[in-house]
Amino acid sequence: MFATLELACKYRDWRDGPSVQRPKKKSTDLQKLADQLNDESISLESVMAEFKLSNTTLRRMMSHMSDNMDRGLEKGLAKSTIAMLPSFVPELPNGTERGKYIAMDLGGTNLRVMLMEIEPGEPMRTKQFNTRMPNAAMHGSGTKLFDYIAKALADFLIERELQDENLPVGFTFSYPCDQTGLRSATLLRWTKGVTATGCVGKDVVKLLEDAIERDGRVKVSIVALINDTVGTMVAAAYEGGGKCDLGVIIGTGTNASYMESSKNIKHGLASATEEYLHKEMIIDTEWGGFGDRNEAEYIFTRYDKIVDSKSDHPGVNSLDKLIAGMCMGELVRLVLERLCENKVIFNGQGSKLLSTRNTFPTKYISEILHDDCGSYLNTRLIMGELGIEEFSFSDMLLLREVCITVSRRSANLAAAAIACVLNRVAKPYMLVAIDGSTYKYHPFFNHWVTEKVRELLNPGLDVRAALIAAIVSRVKRDEEKRRKEEEARLKKAEEQRQREVAEREADKRADEERARKTDELFRYQLQRKQEDEVLNIRDD
Ligand code: GLC
Repeated sequence: MFATLELACKYRDWRDGPSVQRPKKKSTDLQKLADQLNDESISLESVMAEFKLSNTTLRRMMSHMSDNMDRGLEKGLAKSTIAMLPSFVPELPNGTERGKYIAMDLGGTNLRVMLMEIEPGEPMRTKQFNTRMPNAAMHGSGTKLFDYIAKALADFLIERELQDENLPVGFTFSYPCDQTGLRSATLLRWTKGVTATGCVGKDVVKLLEDAIERDGRVKVSIVALINDTVGTMVAAAYEGGGKCDLGVIIGTGTNASYMESSKNIKHGLASATEEYLHKEMIIDTEWGGFGDRNEAEYIFTRYDKIVDSKSDHPGVNSLDKLIAGMCMGELVRLVLERLCENKVIFNGQGSKLLSTRNTFPTKYISEILHDDCGSYLNTRLIMGELGIEEFSFSDMLLLREVCITVSRRSANLAAAAIACVLNRVAKPYMLVAIDGSTYKYHPFFNHWVTEKVRELLNPGLDVRAALIAAIVSRVKRDEEKRRKEEEARLKKAEEQRQREVAEREADKRADEERARKTDELFRYQLQRKQEDEVLNIRDD
């Protein structure tokens, strides 16, 4: 076992060391050897070692990412896996904006329609409608998808009698688009498992406008199409007095936006439909594509390769698959399956579901890590859902360890990507807004990312006092949740105390009753005895 671990660690060292340049063939041979040895005898340590990335490896990745970002700005996707797409958003809001708007958001799996009323100095008033996108819309025809969105928008406006107001609509569309203006954006490709046909290569604003016209019930003007990371950055700046240096999403997919000097956006501005006169523009990096041309082989494990090859879009958005929620659960499942096959966990028994693809959703990881390490309630429930009937306490610990290691690698990679952009922005004091379900619901992700970003930032740069809008609201929500849990705990303890008092009182009453009855019996017997004695004396 130790030999395997040592080999795995050595392999990691070779992989990490920028000074040790291994010829490609040898590297493949070594990996094969490591794989063979691992297959003969694997341990938790040897498997987990594959997921551990040193800062040297992370810095190597940052340097490759930064090169790709330069090439993306210069020549776009032709020369880079990081597209660096123009957003045509020239500045951030500063809180003086006003008016009534509609914001629509098509994200990983949800559609949100929101009415926003903004007045300077007043809290933003919002009303919203959220729905989960049906599979038929995400995986059918593009017409069906956009008809579904148009219907949701029309229903929302009609319910509020806003159908004829011709309100401005901002459409947050969380997929890579080649923008030639604020309201013209060609879909480059679907990511995050969406496969709706007939959309790639088309103008998304036009697809939506046509669908709204087909629906025919409302009048609106689509004024802008933005990526969700641009939306995160804009929203954080609105709340934080006009400042935000990086908007990051770590949800079903991952991506980031930042403000770039217009003179550097060579490729993006070459095809602009109007002259762009502003000094700066928000760039949608689309960093999720990093690794798509095998330039980050040193990060991928055998599990990542399996996940990719079985995904809806193999070879596309590799970093998404390494970091974000769409694949994290499946990675954990693959590791567990292998550990189980090698009798390291569940005594080699497992279950049919554990060996079935996509049966371990990413939310299981957060639930397991949220567990109270005494009762392991969530873990036990999840074992039940997976049909694993026999498991020991140490199996639960192993499962937790796998969840920690896989999600920590994801946090480290996200931190490296964040630090890479921050090192380019290079202001002494930077503000980052992070949002997304994977980031929000995992109990340690925020801490791990922040810690690692600080380790990887160039000297002299700082994000420490960052107002992270998403974190602020999450912390508030967490506090609220903790407060409610504490209230529930106190209520339960009080109910238990009252039950115990009632039980004690009932016991006391029963004792008193028993004593009274014994006393009565005793007195009755005494009386009988005295009566008998009187009778006996008389008989005598
Ligand atoms: C994927 C999309 C990207 C989006 C990200 C987060 O990476 O390609 O556009 O921003 O997911 O939702």
